[in-house]
Amino acid sequence: ENQSSLKPIVGNVSVVAHRGASAYAPEHTLEAYRQAIQMKADYVEFDLQMTKDGRLVVLHDETLNRTTNAQQVYPDRSPWAVKDFTLEEIRRLDAGSWFNEAYPEAADKHYAGLLVPTLEEAIEFVKQAQKGKVGLYIETKAPDVYPGMEEKLIAALSRYDLIDNGDVILQSFSEESLRKLKTLAPELPRVQLYSAAMLKDKDVYAEFKRISEYATGVGPTKSVLVPKLIDAAHRNGLIVHPYTVNTQDEMVSLLSLGVDGMFTNNSDLMAELLKKP
Ligand code: G3P
Ligand code: CA
Repeated sequence: ENQSSLKPIVGNVSVVAHRGASAYAPEHTLEAYRQAIQMKADYVEFDLQMTKDGRLVVLHDETLNRTTNAQQVYPDRSPWAVKDFTLEEIRRLDAGSWFNEAYPEAADKHYAGLLVPTLEEAIEFVKQAQKGKVGLYIETKAPDVYPGMEEKLIAALSRYDLIDNGDVILQSFSEESLRKLKTLAPELPRVQLYSAAMLKDKDVYAEFKRISEYATGVGPTKSVLVPKLIDAAHRNGLIVHPYTVNTQDEMVSLLSLGVDGMFTNNSDLMAELLKKP
C-alpha cells in the first residue's frame, strides 16, 4: 500500500552507497564497493584524503587509526594522520580487521587484510562493474589540510574520461573547495554538504539561492530535513540528497518529503523500497 502510493514521487531517486555497503563490510574497501554495486546502488560514495607523497586515497577520517591497524604497525607515529604517511606505508595496513572486531555479527574472515584503495583503484573498480552504470559520488575531505587535492581529483577524472559523461557528482562541506572544483570542471555537478550547525538560524531560501552560484545540489544531514528546506532547494534548482539514512522507516518518510536521493549504509534496504530492477 504504502510503497505503491510512493511510486509517483520516487521516479528518479538515487541510492548513494555511503562509504560503500558500510553496514555489511569495512567502509571504503573495494569489497564494500562490490557489495554496494551488487545491492543496486546508483552511486558509490568516496571520501578523499591525501598521503604525504601527494596521492589521493579513499578513507573517511583524516587519521588512520579507526579503520586500519596503523597504531599496531606504526606505534610511534601518533596521531596517525594520513598526511604524515606515504602511500607505500598506508598500503601495508589492514583496513578490514577493525570491522570484524567492531561488528562481530557482520564479520567475515575475508575482510581481514583488505587495503586502503587509491582513488584510481576505486574508480577502476566501480567503473568496471555493471557495464559502467554505477556512478561515483566523490567528497573532498579536509581540503584545507591538502592543498592541491581538487586539481589532482579533476586530473584523475579527466584521465578516466569522467568529466562530462554524467557519472560523477562532487561533494564537500567546504564552499572554497566546491568553488575551486567549479572553476576546474564546471560541467560536473557539485553538492554542498551541510551539518545542522551550518544551517542554524539561517534563512534556508536565501542560503540556497546564494550557494546556487557554485552548487547544483545540497546534502544536508537528515535531522534538518523539513518540507520548507526541500522546497527552498528545489525552487533554487538544487537537488537534495540527505545523509545518512539507514532504516526503511526513515527512507519512506524522506521519500514522501520529495528528496532526490539519499546516502545510506544499507543500499539493499533502499533498493528494495524503490523496487529497483
Ligand atoms: O558525504 C555525505 C556524508 O557522508 C557526510 O558525512 O562524515 O559521512 O562524510 P560523512
Ligand atoms: Ca562523505
